[in-house]
Amino acid sequence: MMKELEFIYKRHSVRRYQDTPVPAEDLRQILAAATQAPSGKNLQSWHFVVVKNTALIAKMAAAVREKNRQLAEYLPEEERKPFTGMVEYHTVFKQAPVVILAYAGPYPTVAESLLKGGRMPEQEARQYAKANPAIQNVAAAMENLTLAAAALGYGTCWMTGPTYAAEEIGAMIGPVKESYFLAAMTPLGVPLTAGSSPQRKPLEEVVTIIE
Ligand SMILES: Cc1cc2nc3c(=O)[nH]c(=O)nc-3n(C[C@H](O)[C@H](O)[C@H](O)COP(=O)(O)O)c2cc1C
Repeated sequence: MMKELEFIYKRHSVRRYQDTPVPAEDLRQILAAATQAPSGKNLQSWHFVVVKNTALIAKMAAAVREKNRQLAEYLPEEERKPFTGMVEYHTVFKQAPVVILAYAGPYPTVAESLLKGGRMPEQEARQYAKANPAIQNVAAAMENLTLAAAALGYGTCWMTGPTYAAEEIGAMIGPVKESYFLAAMTPLGVPLTAGSSPQRKPLEEVVTIIE
């Protein structure tokens, strides 16, 4: 690994935290790094809600647990256990001193206009929506955030699992911004133990080079 790229390899998902608080200035630097991400048309269509209230964090985790139980009832029998078994992975933020909720805002695309125009069959118009810049914007910010946190010695865990409880979490934190939705969240704090990322696929498997 090149020395210049060490900061990339420092980040890994952290699922257990010390209860040491995160100083406000560190938090601010991490959020500023997040918003330094590129975004389509520089729309910066993201919003971050930082929860430092540990009682509220515990309540959010309880809501995820309860929603997991409720949703399981709608699943086909053979998928229930695997889904409820994942709940630990959907609540890894429960003991972190800080949780950051990443909301994604609307991003007007040609796909939406094509659908509205109504002249193109819906199935055909939908193929132009696949790249989804709204998600890519917030994902770019999330990546910056997690890398910045790691560079400052903090742990994070990019999570989409708990977003099925977005409504319940939203009711706890109050209104964010019109038409914004919960895209991801991450705990933030000092890792309880050292750790590292799981292995990656070999480059040959995920890269095609055309000379
Ligand atoms: C979009 C996305 C959603 C994820 N959701 C969860 C999650 O809900 N719970 C969890 O424990 N980890 C979650 N992860 C973390 C992945 O499991 C992790 O990034 C992957 O296993 C690679 O490990 P590393 O982050 O340590 O390199 C998510 C990661 C991404 C990018």
